[in-house]
Amino acid sequence: MTTGSGGAADKMTTGASRGGPVRRDEERFDGIWMPRRDFFSTVAWAATGVSVLGAIVASVRMMFPKVLFDPPMTFTAGFPEEYQVGEVSERWKKRYRTWIIRTDEGFFALSAKCTHLGCTPNWIETEGKFKCPCHGSGFDPAGVNFEGPAPRPLERFRIAMDENGRILVDKSRLFRQEAGEWDHPDAFLRV
Ligand code: FES
Repeated sequence: MTTGSGGAADKMTTGASRGGPVRRDEERFDGIWMPRRDFFSTVAWAATGVSVLGAIVASVRMMFPKVLFDPPMTFTAGFPEEYQVGEVSERWKKRYRTWIIRTDEGFFALSAKCTHLGCTPNWIETEGKFKCPCHGSGFDPAGVNFEGPAPRPLERFRIAMDENGRILVDKSRLFRQEAGEWDHPDAFLRV
């Protein structure tokens, strides 16, 4: 059935998309030619919908704030028997950014944070040194800098034994070699 002149169906079938002339009171929306008044109404509703949706999303996000969970500053690092004398253990590096080193006399916990600009060095077993991948600083197994731009040794963390005989590392307490703090009793665990 055909509609009369000026009807909505008539307007919807008039336009360049289907080969006819474009009427001056029409706009194209999503591939469809429609009366200009309908076109602006559709755009207005779409804009309103987007605004409302944005407000809802913002409200929901406020109800569930983004929380970053950092690993705790204190952690237990197992029993002393789990480490070999002379070993640089990378067991806790990924999670706590800490190396546990066992010497003849005991343990110390070394920070895996370069004292140049804070990159994470790697332990190079074959060369017996820590090497920073960013600018090439090198540290000996004790953590003392000897090459590259790092201005000072790596830091050590407080290390102790808990009531169950496990090694306890407290990263909130730092010891710096250049300040003479590596001799502090809490900077080394004797076993
Ligand atoms: S951050 Fe390690 S050498 Fe620059």
